[in-house]
Amino acid sequence: MSVFANDYSSMTLKGCDASILLDHEGSEKTSNASKSLRGFEEIDDIKAEIEKKCPKTVSCDDILTAVARDATVLAGGPYWMIPYGRKDGRVSVANEAAIVPKGSKSVTKLIEFFQSKGLNVIDLVVLSGAHTIGRATCESVQHRLYDYKGTKKPDPSLDPKYLNYLRRKCRWAFENVYLDGETPDTFDTQYYHNIKKNMGLLSTDQLLYSDSRTKPIANGLSFESSLFKNQFGVSMVKLSSILDYTSQENGEIRVDCNLC
Ligand code: HEM
Repeated sequence: MSVFANDYSSMTLKGCDASILLDHEGSEKTSNASKSLRGFEEIDDIKAEIEKKCPKTVSCDDILTAVARDATVLAGGPYWMIPYGRKDGRVSVANEAAIVPKGSKSVTKLIEFFQSKGLNVIDLVVLSGAHTIGRATCESVQHRLYDYKGTKKPDPSLDPKYLNYLRRKCRWAFENVYLDGETPDTFDTQYYHNIKKNMGLLSTDQLLYSDSRTKPIANGLSFESSLFKNQFGVSMVKLSSILDYTSQENGEIRVDCNLC
């Protein structure tokens, strides 16, 4: 059973203490939920450069957090100040990676999950806007294309032309499709415009525009690019401040991000 369905408050987000980088049998990286993650070599290269100049000073966790911010800026998104100083955790368990929400959860489940981490509904809608860049595996959307919830029909909330496009694009589960089909490499408000046109890729994206708790926020953000960008930075600081106290207490600064 998915960890998502359990008591969230007892779960930790160890992906935030660089446990996702550890390479050993049964680590988070080996989990099914992590299989589309990539770019680990870039983190290793950055760490190697930093270790040459400031040995044992900058954690892999802080590097991950800075990389997420800098990648956002490069794509045209906002800059935010990072609360540096986090330690790298020593524990990485594959099953705990399953806590990351799947693209098929209900809005209520998403709100509950975010609340269990100290994040509110605004954070949920704003941070979901990260799906303005990047891609998903077709596996994450196939349940919407032919037999949505056992109806033998596609998800009725999908725009018919977009449905045809996705059916052509997603013949195999391992193929990829852009989260924002219009401007996939640009950090902008197009994600919110897409869901207004029934062109949200994940059902969790589309559902944000059909729930009265989230729709007005998504609608407002679609018109307010600077509000979206500013609030994205604020919510990202909140997200990166979620700490697992045990892992921080027993934490370290790794020399090699893949080993502890
Ligand atoms: C609201 C809950 C969320 C759900 C249900 C969700 C779900 C997903 C799923 C299913 C994928 C595609 C994975 C795959 O098939 O390979 C994905 C990709 C992605 N998500 Fe989320 N996500 C959520 C929140 C977030 C947040 C908070 C961020 C960052 C602030 C984020 C950033 C991304 C990015 C950048 C990608 C593209 C990755 C790539 O290009 O490989 N997501 N998300």
